[in-house]
Amino acid sequence: MTSATYKNYNDRFKSGLRDHDKRSTDATGPALVAGAAGFGLGLLAAAGRRAAVQAVTYAAGDWFEGLKAEHKLARGIMEKLADTTEEDQGKRATLVLQLQHAIGKHNVQEEYVVYCILAEHGDTAAANTLNSEHFELKKGLHELEVIGKEQRPGFLEKLGEIRSVFEAHVTEEETEVFPRLHASLSPEQQKSLTNRMNREGFKVA
Ligand SMILES: [Fe+2]
Ligand SMILES: [Fe+2]
Repeated sequence: MTSATYKNYNDRFKSGLRDHDKRSTDATGPALVAGAAGFGLGLLAAAGRRAAVQAVTYAAGDWFEGLKAEHKLARGIMEKLADTTEEDQGKRATLVLQLQHAIGKHNVQEEYVVYCILAEHGDTAAANTLNSEHFELKKGLHELEVIGKEQRPGFLEKLGEIRSVFEAHVTEEETEVFPRLHASLSPEQQKSLTNRMNREGFKVA
């Protein structure tokens, strides 16, 4: 999150708290104010955490570079998962959650912004194909979570399937579709796409 966005968020929080403060003067008093402050601090902490998560993508400075950095991040989590054994149930559960979050946030950015711009630029077929591959990934991650939770056999096999769907999808994005889109956008359009993508990512980071 940019410092401007954070300031905006902070200002909105503070003005909400002031309004609440006024209302509660002749109502239930200090307890409510303290409750609101605690809730507000929780919101601020969540905003700070989301900013930290989005920072990797934002720091890349360009939508395509940001997405490539996120592909690398997800690949790294899958590599750690591939090194686990049946004995590492807790570690598997944590890594599956991390992977779902990383891929989920990544996919929101692509589905709500990048694929829409792709379709706007006439590449609807590619947008549809990539979108349906995201569903395959979601389904695979759901199955992986269930296999892990129920401690059923086949965890690493399912992970292997997810990795091959992921790598084929990422190769398509990184070597064909995204370079084509990148080349067709003006510097202003690149900037706008990068900003919109980071905004979507921040919402779900
Ligand atoms: Fe994708
Ligand atoms: Fe992607």
